Amino acid sequence: MKIGIIVYSQTGNTFSVASKLYEELKKTSNKVSLMRVEATRDLKQNVLELTKEPKINQYDVIIFASFVEAFTLCPVMKNYLENIETMKGKKVFSFVTQFLPYKWLGGTHAVNQMKNICEQKDATIIESGVINWKNKRREDRINDLIDMIVSKIEGTK
Ligand SMILES: Cc1cc2nc3c(=O)[nH]c(=O)nc-3n(C[C@H](O)[C@H](O)[C@H](O)COP(=O)(O)O)c2cc1C
Repeated sequence: MKIGIIVYSQTGNTFSVASKLYEELKKTSNKVSLMRVEATRDLKQNVLELTKEPKINQYDVIIFASFVEAFTLCPVMKNYLENIETMKGKKVFSFVTQFLPYKWLGGTHAVNQMKNICEQKDATIIESGVINWKNKRREDRINDLIDMIVSKIEGTK
């Protein structure tokens, strides 16, 4: 299967988790790509422009990853997802990172936003996750998330 990991990360936390996932998925028989969404933002004017929007057409499985901003999904990832015409036939995972230690401080809301947008685009949602950066057991949670995604992908073949 062809797997695309598509990330918007500002300070590198989400990208580090996505990179670890990429390394694990490369050990399987799948063809894996890791791509970044890029954007310029003018926060004062509340304007954002997507400058790099990875195409999803060729992938069977897509993992969308981003972070929580002001208790919601980062607007760059929201815009990117909303711009995708269709996700029909795609199996989708999503995860976010957030600084605060509890999922209910934005993480759950953000992954639900991702799920809702992807469902509206006819994706098949498989699973999602939240990584709390301040959690003492962060590394364990990251490994759990990666194990879950890898095993579900292997199980859906
Ligand atoms: C403008 C802004 C708003 C944020 N708001 C929240 C928030 O509401 N809740 C939270 O837990 N973390 C919040 N964060 C922290 C980020 O979600 C967290 O540091 C994340 O891991 C950053 O991901 P990145 O390193 O991939 O950019 C915010 C960060 C920024 C820059």
